[in-house]
Amino acid sequence: MIKYIFLCITFFVSNSYCQLPIKQCANGENKPTYLDVVNCKEMPCTVVTGTTAVMYMNFTAPELIDTLQAKILANVGGLNVPYPLPQPDACKALSNTHCPLEVNEPAQYKLEMPILSIFPEIGVTLSLYLEANGVKDNKVVCCIIDIQVVKP
Ligand SMILES: *[C@@H]1O[C@H](CO)[C@@H](O)[C@H](O)[C@H]1NC(C)=O
Repeated sequence: MIKYIFLCITFFVSNSYCQLPIKQCANGENKPTYLDVVNCKEMPCTVVTGTTAVMYMNFTAPELIDTLQAKILANVGGLNVPYPLPQPDACKALSNTHCPLEVNEPAQYKLEMPILSIFPEIGVTLSLYLEANGVKDNKVVCCIIDIQVVKP
């Protein structure tokens, strides 16, 4: 922890950002090379119902990618519930490039996630992943994000 804070401060001073530790998904899928949950320096990230959480996720395409679906599973009380996203087409949310992605092409995905009031005011574990080429569970990048939902 102390090491992390020290790293953070070092990064903060040198790079003016502080990288969140990235948690890998359960089946060992590729993690993002960089993750930024806007306004969150440490998990769980506090999110306020009625607002939109914004996250940036960098990854490298492991294969040729023609289509890319963004998916979130919210683990609420042990159940994994698919979370509806206003823009499930991740190809339309790439900030530095566009589809098709070449093999090994670096890409940045921007997620805008409205925090709906269906969330209970508890800690929720999100699995965020991008599924390529319409193949179920072909997760080209995946990470776990812990959030704490609060009312405004
Ligand atoms: C993430 O991707 C963006 C867009 O390509 C790039 O500008 C940024 O430097 C990348 N960040 C890191 C830490 O790799």
